[in-house]
Amino acid sequence: MTQIEPILKWAGGKRWLCSRFPQLFETEYERYVEPFLGGAAAFFALQPKLALLSDLNSELIATYRAICTEPNEVYSKLRVHQSKHLEYEDYYYKIRSSNPVTPASCAAKFIYLNRTCFNGLYRVNLRGEFNVPKGTKDSVILRTDDFERVSSALDRATLINADFEDVLDQCVAGDFAFIDPPYTAKHNANGFLKYNEKIFSWEDQRRLAACVRRFKARGGKALITNAAHQSVIELYQDVGDISQVSRASVIASETKRRGNIEELVVTVGYRAEVDPS
Ligand SMILES: C[S@@+](CC[C@H](N)C(=O)[O-])C[C@H]1O[C@@H](n2cnc3c(N)ncnc32)[C@H](O)[C@@H]1O
Repeated sequence: MTQIEPILKWAGGKRWLCSRFPQLFETEYERYVEPFLGGAAAFFALQPKLALLSDLNSELIATYRAICTEPNEVYSKLRVHQSKHLEYEDYYYKIRSSNPVTPASCAAKFIYLNRTCFNGLYRVNLRGEFNVPKGTKDSVILRTDDFERVSSALDRATLINADFEDVLDQCVAGDFAFIDPPYTAKHNANGFLKYNEKIFSWEDQRRLAACVRRFKARGGKALITNAAHQSVIELYQDVGDISQVSRASVIASETKRRGNIEELVVTVGYRAEVDPS
């Protein structure tokens, strides 16, 4: 089975975890669950037979739904974006402020902006409008695109737009959840609240850990990722097996400090060896 390339570039994407530490992922389960879906790197790497996929980002979930039901329609609209993007200087901003109506047009807009905006970021203003400026990339259509294959994989999944708690509280024994929330630590080394606090607060991290405890009590299995920080270790120390994995840094300012970033992985309800290759 060859890996499917994720369609979207997503902050905190876990392609590196799937390719460097595949042994961390449980293989025995009936249903795969991913409640912080984002770019869905793990789902596309594992290609489970049955899945429940969700995210709080409604545009993201609507995009996957449209690719699932009309992959060719979305792809042909993306091809139009590709040619106009190269033709007109201000095309990005024109599309950014447009309000398409059909699911395929909305999905094509979402993918187009994701591929051409600054650093593939997703950020909205207080009115919920996407406000990331244009980036330097001009490739709207990628060599790896195979929307029909993506559609077949998504066809075996239920897609939900919801908060993680609604989804995880429905999960039962036989489910394996890959849980990759936005990272927040209680405090950084200087005692200040860390980045992402507004997006996903420390209270959300506590709510998530409580949810995982309930899921474990019902017989569920989970792999959780988070920042390698003492506050996170304390959250999960009585829930599962905690290990650290390192990834090469992709952010320039991080690279200057050091080449590798440590991340935390917690396995719940099963054992896995961390054996970096
Ligand atoms: C670190 S990203 C997941 C990245 C993904 N694993 C990948 O490989 O691309 C975290 C995701 O959590 C979503 N999210 C943030 N708060 C959430 C919440 N309360 N419930 C569900 N999803 C949430 C964000 O929209 C984002 O897509």
